[in-house]
Amino acid sequence: MEFSVKSGNPEKQRSACVVVGIFEPRRLSVAAEKIDAATDGYLSALLRRGDLEGKLGQTLLLHNVPNTLAERVLLVGCGREREVGDSQYRQIIAKAATTLHETGAMEATSYLPELNVKGRNTHWKIRQAVEVTEDALYRFDRFKSKKDEARRPLRKLIFSVPKRSDLSDGEQAVTEGMAIAKGVAVTKDLANMPANICTPTYLAEHAKNMSKDYKILKVTILEKEDMEKMGMGAFLSVAKGSRQPPKLIVIEFMNGKKKQKPLCLVGKGITFDSGGISIKQAQGMDEMKYDMCGAASVLGALTSCAELNLPINLVGVIPSCENKPDGNATNPGDIVTTMSGQTVEILNTDAEGRLILCDALTYCEKYNPDNVIDIATLTGACVIALGHHATGVMGNHNPLIHEILNAGKTSGDRAWGLPLWDEYQEQLKSNFADIPNVAGRDAGTITAACFLSRFAKKYNWAHMDIAGTAWKTGADKGATGRPVPLLTQLLIDHVEHLKKQP
Ligand code: BES
Ligand code: MN
Ligand code: ZN
Repeated sequence: MEFSVKSGNPEKQRSACVVVGIFEPRRLSVAAEKIDAATDGYLSALLRRGDLEGKLGQTLLLHNVPNTLAERVLLVGCGREREVGDSQYRQIIAKAATTLHETGAMEATSYLPELNVKGRNTHWKIRQAVEVTEDALYRFDRFKSKKDEARRPLRKLIFSVPKRSDLSDGEQAVTEGMAIAKGVAVTKDLANMPANICTPTYLAEHAKNMSKDYKILKVTILEKEDMEKMGMGAFLSVAKGSRQPPKLIVIEFMNGKKKQKPLCLVGKGITFDSGGISIKQAQGMDEMKYDMCGAASVLGALTSCAELNLPINLVGVIPSCENKPDGNATNPGDIVTTMSGQTVEILNTDAEGRLILCDALTYCEKYNPDNVIDIATLTGACVIALGHHATGVMGNHNPLIHEILNAGKTSGDRAWGLPLWDEYQEQLKSNFADIPNVAGRDAGTITAACFLSRFAKKYNWAHMDIAGTAWKTGADKGATGRPVPLLTQLLIDHVEHLKKQP
C-alpha cells in the first residue's frame, strides 16, 4: 500500500473517498463539521434522522455528497470523544481500512489522524495509522487455492495533518510506519508458514535472501559441525531428535560507528515444538509451529532497521531446530554440557527453548556486546500470568528493562516487567548436574529466565517472553508480528541515546 500525508479541507479533496469521524452520540468531528458546513448541514441532518449513532465500529458510506469534490464520504464511528485512547484509535483506523477495502474506492483521504488521542501527537497518530492499516489488511493466503481478493482493493491512503507545518513530521512518521509494517509482515509470514515448509533451513535461506535485499547485512549460517566444535551441547541435544538439520543464523548489521559495541538480538527458532520425549498433548499442538516467533521477530526487526537505515550496530543470533521425539532424541534425565561449560540435567525435554538459547547467549560473547536481548515463546506460564496483552520482560540490568518497557508504551506493543530476584534462583537445583532445565510449576516464566541468566553474565541482558503476544488463537488464529514494533522503537530510541553519548 502507498501512504502519504497532506493538509487541506475535506470538502475540497478530489478523492475517491474522504474519511471522517463521528462521535457518540451523533456528534461531528472537526473534519465532519467542515463537510457539514460546506453542505448546508447534510451530515447533521443525517445524524438527526438517526442513521449513525457514532458508536465505535459503526460506519456509513455516502455517495455524491453535494458541494464536496470527493466521490464518497465514509463516516466512521469513534465512540465518545473523551474516551478515544490508543486502543480506540487503533480500532477506528482498522475499521476504516477494512471498510474502504470493500468499497470501490482504491484511494482515499483520511482525516482520522486529526482526532484527539489522549497523550499522543501527530507523529504517533500517523505512524500508528500506517501500521494498523497494514495489519488490518494483512492476509496469509498463499496456501489457499482460491484466494478471495477484493475486486477493487485499497491501494493508496492519504492521511491529513492539521497544519502545513506538520507535513514533514508526518512524512517521517509514514516512513517509520511503513518500515515497521514491513518488518511485521515479514515476521507474520514466516510465523504463519507451516512447519513442513518453514524449517531451520528455510529460515536460514530467508536470512541469506535478506542480505541480497539489504547489502549492509552480513549473514553467516553455522552448521551442526560448527556447533559441535564450539561445544553447544545444549542446543544440539534438542536438535538430535529431528531429521531437520539445525542452523545457527547470524546476521550482522554494522551500520553504526566502528567503535560502538553492538546490541545483540537473540531469537528462539524452534520451527516445531512437539515437546520431544516429554511430548505435548494433541490439542492445539499445531500452534507450536509458532515456536519460532522469536526468530521471526528478530528477522522482522532487522528488516525494519535496514529499511530505516538506522546508524546502529546490531547482531541477530538465531538458534533454530525442531523439537521432535525421534529414536535418537534426548531422554528426560540426560545430562549435557553447554558451550559455557555448565552442565544441565534435562528433566523435561519440552523445556527446550532455554536449551537452545543458553548456547546462543554464550555465542554472543564473541561480539563483546553491551546489550543482549533474547525474544522467545518460552513459557505457557507467561500466558497464564499476563494473557495476550503484554510481553513479559526480565533481565539483569534495570536501565535496559526500562528502555524496553518504554519502547512498548511508545509503540503500543506493550510489555510488563516480572521480578528476577535471587530467591527465585534457588528453585534451580539438580542432584546430578550444575542446573536442571526445569524448576517446578511455581513462577515458571521467572525460573525460565533464571536459567537463561546463568548464561548472560558478561553483558547487560534482558529476556522477552512473547508466548502470549506473538500469535492469536481461535477463529482469527494467526501471527501478530509482535514484538517487532517494540523492538524497532527500542532501536530508534537507542540511536537517539547513542547520539547523546560522547
Ligand atoms: N514453546 C513452549 C512454550 C509455550 C507453550 C508457548 C504454549 C506458548 C504456548 C515451551 O517450549 C514449553 O513447552 N514450555 C514448557 C516449559 C515447562 C516444561 C517447564 C511449558 O510452558 O509448559
Ligand atoms: Mn517446549
Ligand atoms: Zn518451545
